Amino acid sequence: MPLHDKFGRAITDLRISITDRCNYKCVYCRTGNEGALYGDLPFEDYLRMARVLVGMGITKIRLTGGEPLLRKGVVEFVQNLANLRPQGLKPRPEEAVRGAEAPLFHEQLDIALTTNGHLLADLAQPLKDAGLSRVTVSMDAVDPDRFTRITRVPGGFDHVLAGIRAARRAGLWPLKVNCVLMRGFNEDQVIPFGMFAREEGVIVRFIEFMPLEEDRVWSPSTVVTLDEIVARMAEYRPLVEIPHGRSETARRYRFDDGIGEIGIIAPVSHPFCGHCSRIRITSDGKLRTCLFSVWDHDLYGQMRRAASDEELAEFIRSVVMKKEERHHIGEPDFVPASRTMVHIGG
Ligand code: GTP
Ligand code: 5AD
Repeated sequence: MPLHDKFGRAITDLRISITDRCNYKCVYCRTGNEGALYGDLPFEDYLRMARVLVGMGITKIRLTGGEPLLRKGVVEFVQNLANLRPQGLKPRPEEAVRGAEAPLFHEQLDIALTTNGHLLADLAQPLKDAGLSRVTVSMDAVDPDRFTRITRVPGGFDHVLAGIRAARRAGLWPLKVNCVLMRGFNEDQVIPFGMFAREEGVIVRFIEFMPLEEDRVWSPSTVVTLDEIVARMAEYRPLVEIPHGRSETARRYRFDDGIGEIGIIAPVSHPFCGHCSRIRITSDGKLRTCLFSVWDHDLYGQMRRAASDEELAEFIRSVVMKKEERHHIGEPDFVPASRTMVHIGG
């Protein structure tokens, strides 16, 4: 029986944070200092968790961080994940981005990775060869100085651009670039990113800033909303909305001349919790049922107590039944999540 929560949502997507270390200190995510760390686990422990979860109906695994490419051995880990065989049916990766009605198949896990791109140039081809399907690169400005102001690490822009290009050459496709927009920092980057999507042949996705940052600077006025992004982009070229998959985070758009794709992830102004298919494992082996969970569930603790695979599956099933119906961003009863984004992974 595949994993379902009490609202009838099928849980098919697993995100594993393989480290909460990061070599960037982006203003919308971390403090300017080092910050606390929860630490990470040997890859064999994540692999066992993944194997049990794939046996329960997971068809897509996304590796996150911190910055996952800081972890030595990530290529071999991807290779081991690629040997797991999913149980269920899923859309082909290249067709999943075209719409919900795409034909289904279930030969291989869809293995994706979210990275800041700093170390990607040398790793893109080895990761592809190991079985990685695709990458998402976080990049919040197309201007090098602005980029440094956001990441607080000088000289990163050229590395990230080289990483994006290497991923494209390696065939890590579809290639998505995530840009978190934060008022006062980079809302003027909307049109430059529109041009970037067309020139580089990547899907640029703007993300509304969520209250998950270490510095607690979020307020509704810091959010650049979907409506504002569409209006700003229209000053360059109009966007035409195209269909997106039911549990997809992003609304999808093409430019009116058909060249270039843009996505907008709008958890604040247009929440998408109703079709959520995601569950997360933190770098220290805790299960999280929502980005905004106020507690997590100690899966690794079960393993330390020598639980069998069946017992782990039973634990996971009971945790999934507690999955939250939705988040409460911007509402009077909002309670901040028990972890910030760098310790969850996105
Ligand atoms: P693919 O469909 O595999 O390409 O992944 P995706 O579209 O879900 O994109 P990705 O996993 O890169 O998620 C993009 C961003 O959306 C994340 O970095 C988060 O900022 C946000 N996001 C992802 N999942 C959730 C969620 O469950 N709730 C909320 N509020 N935001 C989410
Ligand atoms: N709000 C929205 N998105 C965020 N990300 C990190 N912090 C936030 C936040 N507070 C994005 C990153 C990356 C992904 C893991 O999540 O830019 O693309």
